[in-house]
Amino acid sequence: MTSYLPPAQRVWWNVPVGRQEIVWIAIALTWCLIMFFMMPYWHVYGKQNLSNVAYKTTPAQYGPKVQAMIDQYTVRTETDQQIPVVAPPAGSDVYMLARLWQWWPILELEKDKTYRLHISSMDWNHGFSLQPVNINFQVVPGYEMVLNITPDKAGVYGVVCNEYCGIGHHTMLGRIYVKE
Ligand code: CUA
Repeated sequence: MTSYLPPAQRVWWNVPVGRQEIVWIAIALTWCLIMFFMMPYWHVYGKQNLSNVAYKTTPAQYGPKVQAMIDQYTVRTETDQQIPVVAPPAGSDVYMLARLWQWWPILELEKDKTYRLHISSMDWNHGFSLQPVNINFQVVPGYEMVLNITPDKAGVYGVVCNEYCGIGHHTMLGRIYVKE
């Protein structure tokens, strides 16, 4: 039989499904179900994807909250740009903002203490990527992302922007210190 001949049976849906096809459908369905149940599983047991809550905000509302924390808890400044290093009390709400092309300010946190970390963008879409632990999430203007974080290892963490945000994207680096 060649392809330009009409099928022998016109009503193809009355033809029983072939064994091989049934096997493939079963394999595909099984894999779909595994992936489906991986979503809630990974949500609970995964080490990388964070659960956050998001609130609507605006740069005009968010900026002053960040500034209020900086005014109250700055302990020193770093680099030529005088980036404030802020050490808020353990257990408090801590704020970071993303803008072209900075993560602002530098945070100094204590190991094994829990904080509510707020992040929002003042302009465009940025990507928060915490190194070397590889925690990632989107930072979108108009939304305030809030995460409960408990740093469990002391050290210096880098914040890298991993969403292309223009000519200075590759210079958009921030820092979080975790003290013993
Ligand atoms: Cu911000 Cu790329």
